[in-house]
Amino acid sequence: MNHLFTPFTLKSMTLRNRIVMAPMCMYSSDQTGFVKPFHMTHYETRAMGGTALVILEATAVEARGRISAEDLGIWSDTHVEGLKQLTEVIHRHGAKAGIQLAHAGRKCGVPSEDMIAPSPVWFEEAEPSYRLPREMNIDDIQTVVEAFKQAARRALEAGFDFIELHGAHGYLINAYLSPLTNFRNDQYADGTLLLEEILNAVHSVLPSHLPVGLRISAEDYAEGGNLPEHLAEKINRVMKKMPEGQGIDLINVSSGGVVPSRINVFDGYQTRHAEIIGQLTHIPVMSGGRIKTAEMADEIIRNNRAELVFLGRQLLIDPYFPLHAAVTLKQEIDYAPVAYERWKTGR
Ligand SMILES: Cc1cc2nc3c(=O)[nH]c(=O)nc-3n(C[C@H](O)[C@H](O)[C@H](O)COP(=O)(O)O)c2cc1C
Repeated sequence: MNHLFTPFTLKSMTLRNRIVMAPMCMYSSDQTGFVKPFHMTHYETRAMGGTALVILEATAVEARGRISAEDLGIWSDTHVEGLKQLTEVIHRHGAKAGIQLAHAGRKCGVPSEDMIAPSPVWFEEAEPSYRLPREMNIDDIQTVVEAFKQAARRALEAGFDFIELHGAHGYLINAYLSPLTNFRNDQYADGTLLLEEILNAVHSVLPSHLPVGLRISAEDYAEGGNLPEHLAEKINRVMKKMPEGQGIDLINVSSGGVVPSRINVFDGYQTRHAEIIGQLTHIPVMSGGRIKTAEMADEIIRNNRAELVFLGRQLLIDPYFPLHAAVTLKQEIDYAPVAYERWKTGR
């Protein structure tokens, strides 16, 4: 029976356990989008703590695709060097490095940037926290697809083992996938075509062994919005059109963020979504959302509810969560650095 410390292989990437660091914006770069000393410490520490896969925060494929002005960027070749240094330190401690390629679309929080979206719809009209986006034309769509392609090429050059497309939380790909934000009447009306074009573009510059994931919002928590079944159907439709081995290798199941809504949040609140997505798509899924204990993370794997578990805030306050979890679950693991074993042995 698999458990939290059973290795997991996805194409060329073998993970030492099932614990993944969720992508989390750290708002710690500047207008350049470059990696800063903070990022080096932040990500290296989680790799040292035993996390199997460290997924970098939403990293903007275009400057106008930033969520905040302090986001990491990958919109030019000059970003590669810093990202390469990051993958090197992550690898040094036995972890794999992933990057979340992102475009904010109508949730771009940089006032000087162009705001683009499938349709010109307010996020919150009464008290706008974002500006009104303009509707993308075909040239805009092609520019964005090309930006994802170039970003994937740079990510490969920087040494990442895994590439995740940010298709959740109301950002650009998600805005196409949700009926609450896509009111187009052209070929992009159903939302899957943009995803399909981005996947094709990304795969065209990546070796076939490198796994590509998609983060989704499995539920919009609003009337008329997406439910897990809708997302699964859309993903299945996209996958049918993809050449063998060139689709989505892993689905990172999150939820919400498309429109303002009240979400009933409790420990493990998104695991049911991941189960449904996994069952309906037959693609490996990653589940998380307020998972704070080793037992809870382990239960998800033991009961085959997901292949991987992501932790966000728990890993912020406890970068050594995997080392603690191994002791709690009585699992023998290799420590990296080896000197940390002295904590376990007490000698
Ligand atoms: C500080 C912070 C920044 C986040 N930034 C991102 C992000 O860049 N991309 C993303 O997909 N989710 C982002 N999230 C959501 C997390 O990846 C995760 O799904 C969420 O925090 C729920 O997991 P948790 O309860 O384990 O923290 C962020 C969350 C936090 C707390």
